[in-house]
Amino acid sequence: MRDNKIVILDFGSQYTQLIAKLIRKKRVPSYVFPCHLGFDALQQENPQAIILSGGPSSVYSKKKPVFDERIMNLPLPILGICYGYHLLVRHFGGEIIVSQRSEYGREKIKIVASALLLNGLGKTTDVWMSHGDEVKSLSNDFQVLASTKNALAAIKHKEKPIYGVQFHPEVSHTLKGEVVIDNFLFKVVKAKKTWSIPNFVKENTSLIKEKVGDKKVLLALSGGVDSMVLAMLLHRALGDRLSCVFIDNGLLREGEGREVVENFRRNLKAPLKVINARKVFLRNLRLVRDPEKKRKIIGAIFLKIFLKILKSHDFLAQGTLYPDVIESTSVFGPSVKIKTHHNLVKGILKLKKREKLIEPFAFLFKDEVRKIGELLGLDERVIQRQPFPGPGLAIRILGRITPYRLHILRKADEILLEEVKKLPIRDQLWQSFAVLLPIRSVGVAGDKRVYGYTIVLRLVSSKNGMTADFELLGKAALNKIANRITGEVDSICRVVLDITSKPPATIEWE
Ligand code: XMP
Repeated sequence: MRDNKIVILDFGSQYTQLIAKLIRKKRVPSYVFPCHLGFDALQQENPQAIILSGGPSSVYSKKKPVFDERIMNLPLPILGICYGYHLLVRHFGGEIIVSQRSEYGREKIKIVASALLLNGLGKTTDVWMSHGDEVKSLSNDFQVLASTKNALAAIKHKEKPIYGVQFHPEVSHTLKGEVVIDNFLFKVVKAKKTWSIPNFVKENTSLIKEKVGDKKVLLALSGGVDSMVLAMLLHRALGDRLSCVFIDNGLLREGEGREVVENFRRNLKAPLKVINARKVFLRNLRLVRDPEKKRKIIGAIFLKIFLKILKSHDFLAQGTLYPDVIESTSVFGPSVKIKTHHNLVKGILKLKKREKLIEPFAFLFKDEVRKIGELLGLDERVIQRQPFPGPGLAIRILGRITPYRLHILRKADEILLEEVKKLPIRDQLWQSFAVLLPIRSVGVAGDKRVYGYTIVLRLVSSKNGMTADFELLGKAALNKIANRITGEVDSICRVVLDITSKPPATIEWE
């Protein structure tokens, strides 16, 4: 018997997360895995259907994502989208070539044959395309369902429940995209509507109870919304079998350590151990300039401290989210990744193999976790807290980290946050923070020459941290922030504004 869930294999499309969320919106459980998940691991997941996502590569390219093609022979419904569609076509003997006329944006498709997947789409409909390759020929196993002026837009295997679409049904510009997803879920796969936030909480509470039994769990609290929501969920499930620990790594913002403890005590009647590990973090980071080294050192020290305490516990719990997982992995296999998230260093992955890790949010996005927080009664102040990375200010100071640099960055960051808080735009911002560039430039203050560092203002809006847009403040607000920072913070004589979106930049600077 198959589990009522859809597995999405991610080939690196910027839209993959939208597929997962859209399916959960339809109340069907869906989980995204990197495309190199492997045949056996996929079998263990026991899904009811598979979706192969889009991606930036070409199926004929030598440097394409790692993927076990045996997956396409499993007796399961499969939907291939864009790159995933090309994989299916090629696997079954068709040909993919560079498009004579690439299609990016809105296109009209004409439905030429009826099939469950396209039920209710009418004769023509608008879809969103984003492809530079196209299907040149299909094997005899397939039938064409729809096409644009230039390309084959949808196909179906003649005997198996295998479908491919060139367009992106998960994108809102595809007018009837939700109908296509509905058809796949409920007409092709016959999935059941079992996913909802309350069900997620109920199911995970019993799963956690079952897994933990009468053993003990240590929760690594970062102070952010994810680990705080997890603390509430675990406390509900486990009561005093849960202990929480908050490590002050000396890389926090002004007043943050105190605030985290207050937030915790206001929301939870559970014991919290606070460990002051500032010295050990700063000592180990003293000479490090490389961003990945910083991240790995920080992750390793966190882990070392946790492992010491873990001796008197049986499991470690972390509020890891899907974007953390996906940015620490890569569609090309483990060699290319964007950044190592502090909660996914090697030692943690070892704990995971030994089934000692509890990470119930690893497939969710922050907005979903915020909803769980609301359901569990977490207060608004914590729910709306901006994300703050585990490696903290270490990845917001380029180059070496010193106590003095931390001090001036904290001051500048505090000013920025104070001023942003006064503006209506604060509610639209995913994050607003300062970055310290240890690059000096010349300035003039009170008729004297100064030669000081640079502060960057980073203000972004985002839905889930996977992509982001830079945001602007009005001139008056920017002027005030720049004047206050240069006037009130030592050694800063220049303030600049980061106007890069993600991609191509990431939100954090390192
Ligand atoms: P980037 O910089 O990758 O960040 O665009 C995306 C989101 O993730 C946060 N971030 C982290 N969070 N541990 C975390 O808990 C980390 O190592 C880490 N690195 C980045 C970042 O602040 C942004 O919200």
